[in-house]
Amino acid sequence: MRTTRAMSKLKIILGTVQFGLNYGINNYNGKPEQNQVNEILLTAMQAGIQCLDTAEAYGNAHQIIGDFHKKNLSAKFEVISKLPHKLDKDFETKVETYLKDLDVPCLKGLLFHSFETYKECKGSIGLLGEFKKSGKVKYIGVSIYSNSHLEELIQDTEIDIIQLPFNMLDNVSIKGGLLQKAKEAGKIIHTRSAFLQGLFFKAIEDPNKIVRSLEPSLRRIQEISRFYNIPIRQMALNYCLDQKNIDEVLIGVDNLEQLKQNLNDVDLVMPTDLIEELNKIKVMDTNLLNPALWN
Ligand SMILES: NC(=O)c1ccc[n+]([C@@H]2O[C@H](COP(=O)([O-])OP(=O)(O)OC[C@H]3O[C@@H](n4cnc5c(N)ncnc54)[C@H](OP(=O)(O)O)[C@@H]3O)[C@@H](O)[C@H]2O)c1
Repeated sequence: MRTTRAMSKLKIILGTVQFGLNYGINNYNGKPEQNQVNEILLTAMQAGIQCLDTAEAYGNAHQIIGDFHKKNLSAKFEVISKLPHKLDKDFETKVETYLKDLDVPCLKGLLFHSFETYKECKGSIGLLGEFKKSGKVKYIGVSIYSNSHLEELIQDTEIDIIQLPFNMLDNVSIKGGLLQKAKEAGKIIHTRSAFLQGLFFKAIEDPNKIVRSLEPSLRRIQEISRFYNIPIRQMALNYCLDQKNIDEVLIGVDNLEQLKQNLNDVDLVMPTDLIEELNKIKVMDTNLLNPALWN
């Protein structure tokens, strides 16, 4: 039996890499125009999405968000941004530039864009604490890929937010125990890759080498979708939203239609046995689930 998510908080963060770069394994149209992005952002805001995820590395995404904020004076998004991979540690200038470009008074989160950058800057994280004290940054975090990195960050009391991939394949069988541990340690967990960059929307016959390698697991997802009569798109999003150890789920969209569809899709809490079927899928070669290794 299906029930609705009606009264629960819309725990979605809208990603913005799609606005600043040509991005995604299934994206043949490139990035949307600024006026289309403005429509997407306005719709997201009106629907109750409060937070955007962005990064210095996402082309002109900061300026695009700032442009939206300057035009929509009634309200602003909370914004999480990421320091670049190559970092000169002049955090002060960075933060001031980000606040100005994004047109926000403070950042909800300032993240290291990779575990490697975090390690390089580990000795200077105390400096970032100063921004927390002054109210310019609420939380410090790291964006990561692997379980071993997650394990290490769980131990670091200076890190508030951990952002990592999670989806129907990169699932509870791979990450469940560690997410539980991270929550017990008081971490804020944000996940991305709910749609595995759009891979879930590719045809199962597609010659793409990642689709070919993941074919048995993708077929299993199709079977489950058919059995429960729930579209893959809707299962993908709600599988992440239904995880109690995930605080917020990032999604990316290339156009307004996708956003509207996804907003409609959240009004469903999936049957427990469906979730258990997805939990049982186990991809052995986890490198296949890391878009950074796809090229
Ligand atoms: N290391 C990092 O910190 C890092 C890395 C990657 C992403 N991110 C962040 O995470 C955000 C989300 O990116 P992601 O990689 O996690 O993407 P995702 O949400 O897994 O997939 C987004 C893609 O799925 C497709 N899609 C979404 N809704 C759809 C719908 N209703 N119907 C059909 N297709 C739909 C679109 O691609 P197509 O239309 O092209 O299929 C869209 O671009 C980014 O914007 C960025 O802010 C962070």
